[in-house]
Amino acid sequence: MRLQPRGVLIAFEGIDGAGKTTQVSALEKWLGTTGLEVVRTKEPTNGTWGQIVRASSVTGRLPPEKELEVFIADRRDHVRSLLTPALERGAVILVDRYYFSTAAYQGARGLDPAEILRQNEAFAPRPDLLVILELPLDAALERIEVRGGGENLFEKREDLAKCDAIFRRLEGNDILRLDGTQPEETVAKLIADAVRALPAVGHALRSSPSGAALAATAEQTTLAEVARITNDASLSPAEKLARLRRLLA
Ligand code: TYD
Repeated sequence: MRLQPRGVLIAFEGIDGAGKTTQVSALEKWLGTTGLEVVRTKEPTNGTWGQIVRASSVTGRLPPEKELEVFIADRRDHVRSLLTPALERGAVILVDRYYFSTAAYQGARGLDPAEILRQNEAFAPRPDLLVILELPLDAALERIEVRGGGENLFEKREDLAKCDAIFRRLEGNDILRLDGTQPEETVAKLIADAVRALPAVGHALRSSPSGAALAATAEQTTLAEVARITNDASLSPAEKLARLRRLLA
């Protein structure tokens, strides 16, 4: 099934450890059941420029201006070869990191985040939905450590703190900010609700033969989550109530 008049672009952003990849996978899985064409992608890409920046994380980072140029060159290729054609085809595109990461990470190295956004928005399509997963720094560092990143956590903390501050300052009506400390399923449901609320997606799902079945599935997912929270013995009554309120808001 194709979206009309064009596809939608959903970008996932947040500091390392925020849970982007998990949530992209969850959304990809759910969308896979709808019959819509789903294209999952990421930045930096695995293309020539993307490989240069990845290699530089081992061999030594490029100077900030040069690093910015390489990320932008990578994105230009990505927009031209994959994002634009998929949007024109009517696909739902899920991108794990996009130009907001450039504002945050190259901004953290002293470049102007507002200028970086302007430079990117001159050629890269603005997402229809920008999901920003937020996590306290300590929680993010803990997750990175568990994963075995092996970074110098002192340096990492300073850099991540700057990135985090830039992500938190981003503004726009198309931004969905979510507390990444919530259970994965709660975050996934909030994201699925926001995707269903995109006009092109909602319209396509309602008019598809399986639309009604999907609505029923969504209700069941919510009921299952209510039961899970209610029966979770590790949560205090106040925490249960807070989670239920967020879930049903
Ligand atoms: P990451 O998503 O961790 O990719 P992978 O898991 O494939 O290595 O991205 C690698 C790093 O690149 C991450 O720390 C953020 C950084 N980055 C930038 O500095 N600028 C950008 O424009 C993008 C897209 C990523």
